[in-house]
Amino acid sequence: MSLKALLDGLPIPILQAPMVGAQDERMAVAVSQAGAMGALGAGAMAPADIGAAVQTIRDQTGAPFAVNLQIAPALTPSPAELEAAMARLAPWYAELGEPAPPTPSTFAQDFEAQLAALVRAAPPIASFTFGVLGAADVARLQAAGSYVVGTANTVAEARAWAQAGADGVCAQGFEAGGHHGYFLAGIEASSVGTLALTATIVAAVEIPVIAAGGIMDGRGVAAALALGASAAQMGSAFLLADEATNGPTWQAALRNAAADATRLTHAFSGRYARGLENRFMRELKAAEVAAYPIQNRLTQPLRAAANRAGDADVMSLWAGQAATLARPGAAADLVRQWWAQAREASGALARRTAET
Ligand SMILES: Cc1cc2nc3c(=O)[nH]c(=O)nc-3n(C[C@H](O)[C@H](O)[C@H](O)COP(=O)(O)O)c2cc1C
Repeated sequence: MSLKALLDGLPIPILQAPMVGAQDERMAVAVSQAGAMGALGAGAMAPADIGAAVQTIRDQTGAPFAVNLQIAPALTPSPAELEAAMARLAPWYAELGEPAPPTPSTFAQDFEAQLAALVRAAPPIASFTFGVLGAADVARLQAAGSYVVGTANTVAEARAWAQAGADGVCAQGFEAGGHHGYFLAGIEASSVGTLALTATIVAAVEIPVIAAGGIMDGRGVAAALALGASAAQMGSAFLLADEATNGPTWQAALRNAAADATRLTHAFSGRYARGLENRFMRELKAAEVAAYPIQNRLTQPLRAAANRAGDADVMSLWAGQAATLARPGAAADLVRQWWAQAREASGALARRTAET
């Protein structure tokens, strides 16, 4: 079996995007059981919890699923850097009536330990963002029985993953909600639309390509497949699903969002991500912020407090450029509807292209 054969054999070639902060095992199971492919965003999970989460999904679905990790650099800020970054956030904590948290000593989960846990858990697909694994780590996952998929924002990043021996690559366009995966160049040089990115990556690498970014329904799924992708990965489209865990404030912001309301920001985490623009993003747009994952760690308690207070202006409301097209419903029903729409869209296209 190859990843290509696995994706070609999916009854519904839709991949639910891994989404830290917006989904858990329940959504992954529902999507995989419906014939598409679910995923678990495990980037924020302690290494010790990864095995049990993978086992829960495995026990509840006989179908393939993915587990995703974020390749976070192990940065140690100087005390002065840390103090300055915390001082910049202090007024935001004060505004929420929240005491500023104690200075953290760690800033992200230990990636090497997470990776070792993932190798032991051996999910059908192991996917990664924010970097590229070395060939030895890719081989370790494959020997354990996982297909390896890397996220690319550029052709060069797709080639880097192919060279490391990955089984597939996720072409994540500029439209995408949440964090962008760029790791070889800065955000500006890594901002390629899904249409251009998918087509150019399909032309550049031999491994199967999964298109992501701005795909909200069956029309987008059909478009991704027409571009040569083996599957479409959708994130924002699941943000109002019954199984989504992003909570009422985020969901209300999404329901009430104006068109064109998303922006890229590094204010929350030190790494660019797309979300509904709010006051925190506007006020910190030009401000200095600590590097990822330091800023991410420092704003975590702030965002949690804002969420408890229902204050959408200080939360990271990750959403893609087409997120206003998100609809509520059970995740299984949504993927079935999107696949029906994709078939309809491709039928209409076939009729149109046959008329000459
Ligand atoms: C709320 C949210 C959280 C996300 N978390 C992750 C993550 O943990 N790992 C990852 O590789 N991608 C993550 N992404 C990005 C998705 O994998 C995918 O690229 C994106 O959702 C596609 O664009 P769309 O939102 O327009 O569908 C996240 C996206 C959203 C919306």
